[in-house]
Amino acid sequence: MGGGGGGGGGGGGGGGGHEVGALVFDIGSYSVRAGFAGEDCPKADFPTALGTILERDEVMDIDGSIDRGGAVGGSGRKFCIGVNTLHVPKEGMEIISPLKNGMIENWDCLQAILEHTYKRHIRSEPELHPVLMSEAPWNTRSRRERLTELMFEQYNIPAFFLCKTATLSAFANGRSTCLVLDSGATHTTAIPVHDGYVLHQGAIVKTPLAGDFITMQCREMFQEMNVDIVPPYLIASKEAVREGVTPIWKRKDKVPQVTRSWHNYMCNEVIQDFQASVLQVSDSSYEDQIAAQMPTMHHEFPTGYNCDFGPERFRIPEGLFDPSLVRGLSGNTMLGVSHVVSTSAGMCDVDIRPGLYGSVILVGGNTLLQGFTDRLNRELSQKTPPSMRLKLLANSSSVERRFSSWIGGSILASLGTFQQMWISKQEYEESGKQCVERKCP
Ligand SMILES: Nc1ncnc2c1ncn2[C@@H]1O[C@H](COP(=O)(O)OP(=O)(O)OP(=O)(O)O)[C@@H](O)[C@H]1O
Ligand SMILES: [Mg+2]
Repeated sequence: MGGGGGGGGGGGGGGGGHEVGALVFDIGSYSVRAGFAGEDCPKADFPTALGTILERDEVMDIDGSIDRGGAVGGSGRKFCIGVNTLHVPKEGMEIISPLKNGMIENWDCLQAILEHTYKRHIRSEPELHPVLMSEAPWNTRSRRERLTELMFEQYNIPAFFLCKTATLSAFANGRSTCLVLDSGATHTTAIPVHDGYVLHQGAIVKTPLAGDFITMQCREMFQEMNVDIVPPYLIASKEAVREGVTPIWKRKDKVPQVTRSWHNYMCNEVIQDFQASVLQVSDSSYEDQIAAQMPTMHHEFPTGYNCDFGPERFRIPEGLFDPSLVRGLSGNTMLGVSHVVSTSAGMCDVDIRPGLYGSVILVGGNTLLQGFTDRLNRELSQKTPPSMRLKLLANSSSVERRFSSWIGGSILASLGTFQQMWISKQEYEESGKQCVERKCP
């Protein structure tokens, strides 16, 4: 698996059978990316969060995309997957996630997601396609084995492979040795990759300062500013109002009794929109006087409330780089982003450090914050030993940054040299689920 990137091709093949294109699944805490190997981007990209609702007769199958929970767990629950159903308010619908700490925790949820993907996006049968799935670099042996068993026993797939997200991101960027800095929704991690493999676990450095943390910081700020975050599902109409004045909007009158978790999820989407369009990481350490002189940014909320954001734009994401500024993080020992990178490189053998500093790859949606790359570059330049050359690789396309693991999987699974790496169904049947440890290091 040593080589870097490489070209597409039709995907699939190998693994022993007549199967057509291989599938690639990259299930992150924020979204599920899935599609055919060899293609440029995933066919499906939908929220990992799903709605779950107790099965009752009066719950209508609104647009046909409510998937029966009963079919996967006998739990008498329905799952609502994908924005079209998730965004429709339904009485009693709770939001849940299959993942915890980046690893699969709720297997019924996972199955609901897989079934939704096959049925609505891939529109094909699982037994026809080899599956390459990404996993958190700290995934546990028992979870890997359980997943392998599930894919072969329940879905009868012809071949399977599990690959660490960082390895896949390295492939997507054409590097086999590099340091992957991945800042997604739930965590920011630095992961050294050497010759196409994630180095020992001890060198993985991880902090919870990532996208969800920024969302939470924004939420607190809006509370202090008395800005009401109202999701679109509650708004029947709104009027154009002047900047900074109380918004004038009408509430929808017939809204089902929604749960707190669902309402919060909808509020978070409003905040995430603000996050992506307004926030910016400052060039150098945040200082009030400097931030006050920086350009402001206008933003309008779903209620019609609109105003200019000034220093806040910079103050909020500053916590990623300087956790000591974050209020309420008690006994704050968290590392800022550049420390995460340098600490990880420092845990690796001196011989490979130049290779790591020479290819620091930035991936994950949270790295798309404006100014993120420049600030990291600046701080790392100051930390990098003078004898080493520092190079940050950050794809300018947001798609490539958000989908890097999926894209890496798409490349890998369609390489001719990879075809012998699959765990074939026959191999699984002969040696059992334990074979995943040997075949997918
Ligand atoms: N343009 C953007 N600017 C700022 N933040 C963004 C942007 N686009 C996405 N995000 C944030 O990136 C995060 C999602 O990133 P990503 O898709 O890499 O996560 P994930 O891989 O699903 O989750 P994780 O890696 O935590 O398991 C969310 O917090 C989202 O708000
Ligand atoms: Mg991720």
